[in-house]
Amino acid sequence: MARHLITSAIPYINGIKHLGNLVGSQLPADLYARYLRARGEEVLFLCATDEHGTPAELAAAKAGKPVEAYCAEMHEVQAEIAQGFGLSFDHFGRSSSVQNQKLTQHFAGVLADEGLIEEVTEKQVYSIADGRFLPDRYIEGTCPNCGFTSARGDQCDNCTKQLDPVDLIDARSTISGSTELEMRDTKHLFLRQSLMKDRLDAWINEKTDWPVLTTSIARKWLHDGDGLQDRGITRDLNWGVPVKRGDAEWPGMEGKVFYVWFDAPIEYIACAQEWVDAGKGQDWERWWRTDKGADDVRYTQFMGKDNVPFHTLSFPATIMGSNEPWKLVDYIKSFNYLTYDGGQFSTSRGRGVFMDQALDILPADYWRWWLLSHAPETSDAEFTWENFQTSVNKDLADVLGNFVSRITKFCRAKFGEAVPEAGEYGPAEEALIADITARVARYQDHMATIEVRKSAQELRAIWAAGNEYLQAEAPWTTFKTDPDKAAAQVRLALNLIPLYATLSAPFIPAAAQSMLEAMHVSDTTWPDDVPAALGQLAPGHGFEVPEVLFAKITDEDREAWSERFAGIRD
Ligand code: 2FM
Ligand code: ZN
Repeated sequence: MARHLITSAIPYINGIKHLGNLVGSQLPADLYARYLRARGEEVLFLCATDEHGTPAELAAAKAGKPVEAYCAEMHEVQAEIAQGFGLSFDHFGRSSSVQNQKLTQHFAGVLADEGLIEEVTEKQVYSIADGRFLPDRYIEGTCPNCGFTSARGDQCDNCTKQLDPVDLIDARSTISGSTELEMRDTKHLFLRQSLMKDRLDAWINEKTDWPVLTTSIARKWLHDGDGLQDRGITRDLNWGVPVKRGDAEWPGMEGKVFYVWFDAPIEYIACAQEWVDAGKGQDWERWWRTDKGADDVRYTQFMGKDNVPFHTLSFPATIMGSNEPWKLVDYIKSFNYLTYDGGQFSTSRGRGVFMDQALDILPADYWRWWLLSHAPETSDAEFTWENFQTSVNKDLADVLGNFVSRITKFCRAKFGEAVPEAGEYGPAEEALIADITARVARYQDHMATIEVRKSAQELRAIWAAGNEYLQAEAPWTTFKTDPDKAAAQVRLALNLIPLYATLSAPFIPAAAQSMLEAMHVSDTTWPDDVPAALGQLAPGHGFEVPEVLFAKITDEDREAWSERFAGIRD
């Protein structure tokens, strides 16, 4: 039995994430983690908040809070929302943890020892009034291209032209408004990724089973233009991991921090240490050090396509370059983007549905089902309220919910709230059992290979098979002429409910739990033997008719939500 390490890209701390972020990493990672746990595998599923860098500093300043306090608060907010969505992290860590600080400094030290760090002096904008270098986002001015007066140091939001801070007319600091800016020399550390190009290339070439989306992005960065570039891994900022060479000071780097993208992936490792230090587990090295048993681990990462270069090149360069026995990723599942009603989800403009808002209007399972069954795997996918309404009403309410409600109510009315004993299974029952057995095998294959949409399709087909059986066999009609036969039909249909619950739990955990509770079942063993699992509820086994599992979304709801979320969130 393999052990599975699963990480989701760690969300930035600045603000609540939207549904596009969720479906691009955390949610499919949770689906996979839940599935593997259900199959009895040992899983360590980690995520964290990505807390460093200018966006965090800017968001804290906007909120009028010290950045440490802001991050601590937002971490709690994100943790609570993650819980609301049923994201089953074994630990939700913080990239600002002491563990990550130490580990990041350690990696920088060993990379320097290996000759993979270069010190480079370059010119950057310095604000005399603020007494600091200004990152691009802290500089504003007039765009030389379109005259827009609030163009940022890196880009004009009006005409989208990529800019250099020196291009701006009347450049000013966004901190103080001061125009007393000058170019000053500053020293930075560069990771010499270019020296690792051949090793990375060979490693990517071995990954023939990875999604094309993942390998094509990696190859583009390895081979396009001048090939893989060295990368600046330090910044002139206050907020971040202080630059040190292991435990030692780094001469000339005082007051500087590591670039957020250097320390963020290292948090995947530090998070396992945090998990142990929080008393939730033991022996993090068993998951991360190949000299301590991690050779047995299968490590899978989940992320949106914009994160792929960092995970296929920069982080592996850090790991390989250290020449220490750290675990490298085995499989990278990446996703395209989810768009919102004809446009982009946008955190900065507050466009689309954000995770907290989603939970305000409907339970998590409704969203989990739609998002996973429409995961942007092979291309971008679009969220529309019409599509969401149709999916929820058809798949969840008409197919699964209706099946459960119909058969439990019918049984209660004709046989009472216990599984009826009479009657034998005939050809229709045997055919249903065979069909479901074959479908479960396909479902398992898709789940094991993280084919999210295909898994959802097969699961939907498994639910539909039960409904079609009821439709065709119509125990309510059978009952009039042959109550024993109707009893057998009901017995099989009731037995489908706990099977459906166990199979569906990775997608819709809360509804699955309600189904099990209604059927008085606590055993969630995976149905390795489907025919046997369909005999789990013996005659006489009591149950209750569950509350409505899924309420339909009305046209009024849909219209109201569509209008409410068309606007701009503050
Ligand atoms: O794109 C993002 O949301 C980043 N915060 C992801 C970081 S993933 C990892 F490297 F830590
Ligand atoms: Zn412009």
